[in-house]
Amino acid sequence: MQQNLSAKFNLKPATLAVLIQCAALLSVLCVTWAIYWLMAIIFNLDLTYPIFTLVLLQALFAAFFSYLSGMATWWRWIHLGFPMIVWAMSILNIPNTFYLIGFIVTLSLYWTTFRTQVPFFPSRPVIWEQVLSLLPQNMPIRLIDIGSGLGDLSMCVAKARPESLIEGIEIAPLPWLVSVVRAKFKRSSAVFKFGDYHALDFANYDVIFAYLSPAAMQALWQKAQVEMRTGTLLISYEFEIENVPPTQVIKQRHHEKSLYMWKIK
Ligand SMILES: C[S@@+](CC[C@H](N)C(=O)[O-])C[C@H]1O[C@@H](n2cnc3c(N)ncnc32)[C@H](O)[C@@H]1O
Repeated sequence: MQQNLSAKFNLKPATLAVLIQCAALLSVLCVTWAIYWLMAIIFNLDLTYPIFTLVLLQALFAAFFSYLSGMATWWRWIHLGFPMIVWAMSILNIPNTFYLIGFIVTLSLYWTTFRTQVPFFPSRPVIWEQVLSLLPQNMPIRLIDIGSGLGDLSMCVAKARPESLIEGIEIAPLPWLVSVVRAKFKRSSAVFKFGDYHALDFANYDVIFAYLSPAAMQALWQKAQVEMRTGTLLISYEFEIENVPPTQVIKQRHHEKSLYMWKIK
């Protein structure tokens, strides 16, 4: 019964999520109306529902539909929590400015995630050190972090390899702005561009670092195969490329996530 509707109808997960909440709302209306009329006809009872019951029903229907439509497990928790959080916030009388600021910050961080399906999530210093260990030594290199977030990886590499040209490109405006300001304050030689990495020519780089998402990996590999030069490196943290065995894997201690490296042939 469970189907991946997102793939079947070529829907973005966020679009499917909105449709699921709408379907849950319709179901809540149908079920509550049906029970209301049954109670009225059989027991002559004028039933009223506590608001929390309606919110809980909405959450449960949405989580169930999310399961049926084959969305990733974490979407079920989002669907379950969303109606309850909206309800809780509506009774807390929070000033409107709070929502406006929250909306602007979230939009500048995640507004592109809808299209790219790659959310912002920073990597950790241990990963930057492992990336450094994979880089070609004794020669200047040109490296770019595609989806550079707050810029930490690029700044770390730029510090360790001052002879090299280290860049980052970021599509979301807030992280990009933060990375530029941080690079100025830290006097880092890392250069941060605002834009979409799809517009880059990978032939200009010796190393491409990516910490993206499973949704982006196949297209990334196709671009890398067409554009990257022989002997250059594609490095990905956490996400593998289906059916493309990496040249080297660095496993993380106490962690299932790994760092993958492909040497382009
Ligand atoms: C998981 S974060 C990784 C951040 C950083 N590379 C790090 O290691 O800390 C992925 C980042 O890629 C950005 N991104 C997603 N698609 C992109 C694209 N097509 N072009 C440029 N940046 C993109 C997102 O906005 C997000 O900030």
